[in-house]
Amino acid sequence: VPTEIFEDSKKASKHVAKEIADLIRQRNKNDKNTVLGLATGSTPTKVYDELVRLHKEEGLSFKNVITFNLDEYYPMEPDSLQSYVRFMKEHLFDHIDIPDEQVHIPDGTVEEDKVTEYCKLYEQQIRDAGGIDIQLLGIGRTGHIGFNEPGSRPDSRTRLITLDRITRKDAASDFFGEEYVPRRAITMGVGTILDARRVIMMAWGEGKAPVIQEAIEGPIRESVPATYLQNHTDATVILDDASSAELT
Ligand code: F6R
Repeated sequence: VPTEIFEDSKKASKHVAKEIADLIRQRNKNDKNTVLGLATGSTPTKVYDELVRLHKEEGLSFKNVITFNLDEYYPMEPDSLQSYVRFMKEHLFDHIDIPDEQVHIPDGTVEEDKVTEYCKLYEQQIRDAGGIDIQLLGIGRTGHIGFNEPGSRPDSRTRLITLDRITRKDAASDFFGEEYVPRRAITMGVGTILDARRVIMMAWGEGKAPVIQEAIEGPIRESVPATYLQNHTDATVILDDASSAELT
């Protein structure tokens, strides 16, 4: 996978935000939509900060942008402190001019017997929008992309999954204790992610260095789902110095 290493996450995030902004501007000029796949967590926040800045200071408009988030805990109320709906509003949507109906985040309140049907609808909505132009990704210490934990198949689609123990540990502080982290989540599948025309995976900090080495240099395998990106024709990994430390 092509890899670009930056001095720090701020510089790297500005670079990513610029690529997104350039596409949006080009599409806006031709009155066309831009479809973005978005991630939550600590990794993309500086990209969102920069997109908000570009909106406020440089007139970047999101009126023609359609977004699909990767995942949401299940069950999860949208107004909960830890919901990804709330996260996205706080970090991005409340600060830009994107129309509400163009924002999609997996619904953590769908009744259990309707989840399969709901996930099919989410896939349909992505197709109806014309597919994802740019998909942003972080990477979990388990090697997950979205919440596609080890064992996820390359052709998996949006579905209800069980979170890995390590992922729940990493989320424990957000939930004030591991026992309060939901056991499940709805996530786009690996296949859904790989369908995006362009994929940008980011990772910062030394804690991610071992999994980044596996993801980029290791054999493609189910036990590290991020390795599936090696099969994508237009994926780039964006790193800071610390997360790139174990690359050979
Ligand atoms: C979030 C997501 C996850 C995170 C990953 C890294 O929507 O899909 O794959 O990107 O767990 O999380 P952070 O960025 O908090 O290290």
